[in-house]
Amino acid sequence: MTRTDTDPHVPLTDDQLRDAARRFGTPLYAYSAAELDAALARVRVAFGDARVWYAMKANPNLTLLRRLHRAGVGFECVSLGELGRAVHVGAGGDEVIVNGPAKTDEEYALGGQLGATFIVDRVEEAALLPRGSRVLVRVNPGLEVSTHDHLATGAARSKFGVRPLDLPGLLRDLRAGGHTLRGLHLHVGSAVRDAADFSAAFARVAELSAVTGPLEVLDVGGGWGLDADLHGIAARAREAAAAFGARVWVEPGRYLVARSGVLLTRVMGRKTTGRTFTLLDAGMTELLRPMLYGAQHPVRALWHEGAGEGQETRSDLAGPACESGDLLGQDVPLPAGARRGDLLTVLEAGAYGAAMSSNYLTRPRPAEVLWDGQDWVTMRRRESMADIWAAEENPT
Ligand SMILES: Cc1ncc(COP(=O)(O)O)c(C=O)c1O
Repeated sequence: MTRTDTDPHVPLTDDQLRDAARRFGTPLYAYSAAELDAALARVRVAFGDARVWYAMKANPNLTLLRRLHRAGVGFECVSLGELGRAVHVGAGGDEVIVNGPAKTDEEYALGGQLGATFIVDRVEEAALLPRGSRVLVRVNPGLEVSTHDHLATGAARSKFGVRPLDLPGLLRDLRAGGHTLRGLHLHVGSAVRDAADFSAAFARVAELSAVTGPLEVLDVGGGWGLDADLHGIAARAREAAAAFGARVWVEPGRYLVARSGVLLTRVMGRKTTGRTFTLLDAGMTELLRPMLYGAQHPVRALWHEGAGEGQETRSDLAGPACESGDLLGQDVPLPAGARRGDLLTVLEAGAYGAAMSSNYLTRPRPAEVLWDGQDWVTMRRRESMADIWAAEENPT
């Protein structure tokens, strides 16, 4: 398996990956700044003058946030911690959206203090918002979309958004509360496979212009697959926004960062029971997506020289946790001959990878490093045992 420099799915060269593993150890998240910049450029080309907000849940690392902020990207935040990160990297109120289905008093207060735009997710929020808030109303378009059930957010049974039938009353309550309706918002799901799902949802929301009248903003969320036809999605978004005379806002998470990041892991061995496993030093604690959503990540083997030339073998990629579901891949074709210590690269891991990593089994979360074109920049040092139990040793 030889990587070519033109392969868009592998953002770093084999030499860079080997160097990073040697210098920083494994498991390791390694990112390419060039790939991050390229993803943002693709969004900007497709969506023209649409305003771009990064859904920082995908990867909230400060180095990434600073880079995106310098490039003029705002932040969609769904917790007090994410709001804190936005403030920490210097984002002002005009650069922050406060979202979430169950906002706390602290989140309302900080969002209000910043002058951020709130996304109203349910009718009761009209009474909870700080007086004089600027808001978008998230609409539940009541549509099934082509993604894993846990990633679908636009279906009638999902917890997100306001039913169209509740919109007129909510708009009255918002006006009565002295709030300013800037626009409508929708986000139908993540890793959505079929672009027709976006068209259907945008069209359904456009019908609500009869209720709202002209608006400043139509925020169409994110959720695009990595190979999505952004130009097509952008065209449909513009059509829907035109119904309100509104400007388009977008909130990509995964699209911006997934391909820039890989998870580097070392082979710990192989074994055969009823199935054959390649055992790795990374698993569900480093990358939860396969276990949580059945996500499939392409992998690339960096075996020792001369291993398995021409031969291929299939195995499940198993992590070190004492959990049967701790698999990073199933029936994955790999070159034969992996030895303990060989490297495996899990691709498209920059989004919802490090962000969802955990300390389960008292495993320190991995380091994160960025290739900035010249050298590696440490974005997050590897956690130590002391980091993990600090709150237990000093509980007050
Ligand atoms: C409201 C909202 N906007 C944007 C996103 C980003 O989605 P994605 O990372 O799939 O682009 C999410 C993800 O859950 C979301 O909930």
